[in-house]
Amino acid sequence: MTATTGWPFVEFQIPADPPAGLRLAIIGEAPGAEEARQGRPFVGRSGRLLDETLAAAGIDRARCLVGNVFRYQPPGNKVGLFFASRTRAKKEGRAIDERWGPFGTSDWVLADFSGELDHLRQALESFAPTAIVALGRTPTWALTGQNGIMQLRGTVLPCRLLAGAVVVPTFHPSYILRGQLAEQPTFLADLKLAAARSG
Ligand code: URA
Repeated sequence: MTATTGWPFVEFQIPADPPAGLRLAIIGEAPGAEEARQGRPFVGRSGRLLDETLAAAGIDRARCLVGNVFRYQPPGNKVGLFFASRTRAKKEGRAIDERWGPFGTSDWVLADFSGELDHLRQALESFAPTAIVALGRTPTWALTGQNGIMQLRGTVLPCRLLAGAVVVPTFHPSYILRGQLAEQPTFLADLKLAAARSG
């Protein structure tokens, strides 16, 4: 189902001339205020850190697919608004889509937004990346069905949305900006790992 929320909406950045060699996709969770203002993913503070780290890893962002699991900017940037527990969904009279598996211990994607996962699948099928960077727990779940970014980051996992592609989960840049600057070298190493798997 497709949501009709009235929330700001930001499309994926898709290279006009897809590269023949390196084929990398970078997926975040949902656009923030600056992304909604400019209509492009990852152009705010998180985007600047992402750009710097991609450059340090030798990755040309302009040649990558860049997008978010959810193209809507939720109020207050609360990604939790895309999910609900069975109890909360029932109380609020909303449907959940259990086909995508649990998010965390007890949440499920709301049926109003599960079409975003179908859209993500279609975008990946058409760009055909070999490797996909999952920035944080939301894209890690969407792309692999697995939960737990701290245990999963820096690993190489199969992508449930695109047969043959691998997913490299890493930190969301906003996590690093929120006082975890010591994790920057790890973030860089994860991006280098993804680049090495994308060629
Ligand atoms: N955070 C995200 O997850 N995506 C963006 O596009 C910007 C910030």
